[in-house]
Amino acid sequence: MLRTIRATQYVTALREGGSLPAIVEADDLGLYVIKFRGAGQGPLSLVAELVAGEIGRILSLSVPELVFADIDAALGRNEPDQEIRDLLRASVGLNLALDYLPGSSMFDPAAGNKADSHTASLAVWFDAFVLNVDRTARNANLLNWHSKLYFIDHGAALYFHHNWPDADHLADSPFADVRHHILLPWAAGLEQAAAHANSRLNPQVIADILAQVPDEWLQSSHPTPAEARSAYLNLLTRRLAASPIFTQEAIRARAHLI
Ligand SMILES: Nc1ncnc2c1ncn2[C@@H]1O[C@H](COP(=O)(O)OP(=O)(O)OP(=O)(O)O)[C@@H](O)[C@H]1O
Ligand SMILES: [Mg+2]
Repeated sequence: MLRTIRATQYVTALREGGSLPAIVEADDLGLYVIKFRGAGQGPLSLVAELVAGEIGRILSLSVPELVFADIDAALGRNEPDQEIRDLLRASVGLNLALDYLPGSSMFDPAAGNKADSHTASLAVWFDAFVLNVDRTARNANLLNWHSKLYFIDHGAALYFHHNWPDADHLADSPFADVRHHILLPWAAGLEQAAAHANSRLNPQVIADILAQVPDEWLQSSHPTPAEARSAYLNLLTRRLAASPIFTQEAIRARAHLI
């Protein structure tokens, strides 16, 4: 179960983030990177962040701890920046936050950073499974911290939820975008990664994650949050069954690279 913290102080904006994420201090005295429900991408990017992030964790990838972050109306009142004040006002209530990793740096192959085959293969399988296009050389969304790789920024994953009538064909998509995956060169163990992933994931595990998504974040797409959850479950269950399809696509894409 995700913990809930209360944001007590807005510390600084992370200007490189397209969704205006920020570092906040919380009532447990921890620092968190907060993804605002009121940001332009909308609440579905928080759904993706939570569901994909927790799936990654179950696969044993390192994902910073995810928590619900409660924002109250007082938080933004003294912010000098109008844009930030508006964002905080639009985000009163539950948001998603990640444990802040101080001193981390973005994974950069050009700087000599490398990944081990096990982690890289799992990561490629994971991003293909959740349809995450945001793990490229241009934007790795991969942090080096204490000599380990941490996976962040899954807000663009599960993009089928922006268009449910068209979602069906994505369930067994080979995910050709995998060819741009920043860790593909190191992903020498994709078959083993697929086997590991299939031993960890099943419909019950996915349903348990979906059960944690707040009702308020699911409101636009389906008549009820329960129906939205079952649509996600149905799609992700079919996607899991399509593992051989996207695993083979990744193996093929890698063969072209090396
Ligand atoms: N947990 C964390 N610890 C330390 N730094 C972080 C953490 N999460 C995010 N960051 C930093 O903040 C930046 C923006 O975060 P993130 O990529 O999640 O936001 P975003 O708005 O989705 O960004 P974009 O769409 O521009 O990639 C990251 O590139 C990273 O430098
Ligand atoms: Mg990012």
